Amino acid sequence: MMMRASTAERSTSALECASGLSSTLKCGSLLSVGSLTLDDVSAILQLATQLENEDPLERAKRLAKRRIALLFYEASTRTRTSFELAAKGLGADTTLVSNLSSSIEKGETLKDTGLTLRALGAEAIILRHPSSGAPWLLERETGLPVLNAGDGMHEHPSQALLDLRTMMRHLRPGVEGVNAETLAGVTVVVTGDILHSRVARSNMLLLPRLGARVILCGPEKLLPEVAAEAGPGIEVERDLEHAMRQAQVVMMLRIQAERLAGLHLDLEEYKSGYQLTEARLAACAPQASVMHPGPIVRGLELTGEVADGPQSLILEQVHHGVAIRMALVLRALTLRGLTPHGEGRPA
Ligand code: MLT
Repeated sequence: MMMRASTAERSTSALECASGLSSTLKCGSLLSVGSLTLDDVSAILQLATQLENEDPLERAKRLAKRRIALLFYEASTRTRTSFELAAKGLGADTTLVSNLSSSIEKGETLKDTGLTLRALGAEAIILRHPSSGAPWLLERETGLPVLNAGDGMHEHPSQALLDLRTMMRHLRPGVEGVNAETLAGVTVVVTGDILHSRVARSNMLLLPRLGARVILCGPEKLLPEVAAEAGPGIEVERDLEHAMRQAQVVMMLRIQAERLAGLHLDLEEYKSGYQLTEARLAACAPQASVMHPGPIVRGLELTGEVADGPQSLILEQVHHGVAIRMALVLRALTLRGLTPHGEGRPA
């Protein structure tokens, strides 16, 4: 059973975070997947399973009446709903502040909105923001644990963790812990608008550390050649069918129309080279799993038949989002003051 922090403990932790005395890890924030050790990743995967299997009434005592704010400056269905269900599943009270129905519309800054939420009793903030780096600023200004729910074109760490859980269930069933060899021999092809994708970036930061080979695939406009230098284990391939022949997982990404300004992408040309169709899947990767972080655009990056087909794990990914985010929310409110080596990690 989790210990509940006293009010004094909570404000001390907030001050420690604000003054920079604690590392991001100690604050319980998750800003970048790169800040997690493989032991942290294992602990999150294990905690997610433990929480998922717990009796819902018992689980709801863990963070009963604790306050968590969801601060969303961009549209979201899956991420927002699953974070909210995760926090509520642990018994927390949640409040949603979005850019469309709050003082943000009147010009209030991220800092002032964050301080307002803290004054209202929020103990952690889940932030989605169009600017890369916004979660770091919010953590610094409020001293609260911040969970990055997507910052601009930068990172989406909880998505990478739920993607990992989904992959592990299929490729390494029964395994919850990870190490540098866990995904050895696995090739993940990521295809689509990689240039604008925070999902691609977080997966690129995580998967090679577990031994996976990541092949990025797309036209030059959406995938600059320099991406191959992003790190070890990452390659660039322009020919989707060639890439797919090597894949155990094909991860499709949406074309982010809202971020395409000035790119002049010919969508018909794009579809002929990169759309995932039943015919392509049958010919090049009949055993591979198909993943997509959503939202999916049927008829563009993939066909409806592929999205609904037997190789699609798209809805499973959505499902895993709740367990992973329960683990992250619990970690955010209980990890403060712990050492990065895991003493006192939530049981
Ligand atoms: C995101 O928020 O990055 C989504 O999950 C992917 C997308 O918007 O296409």
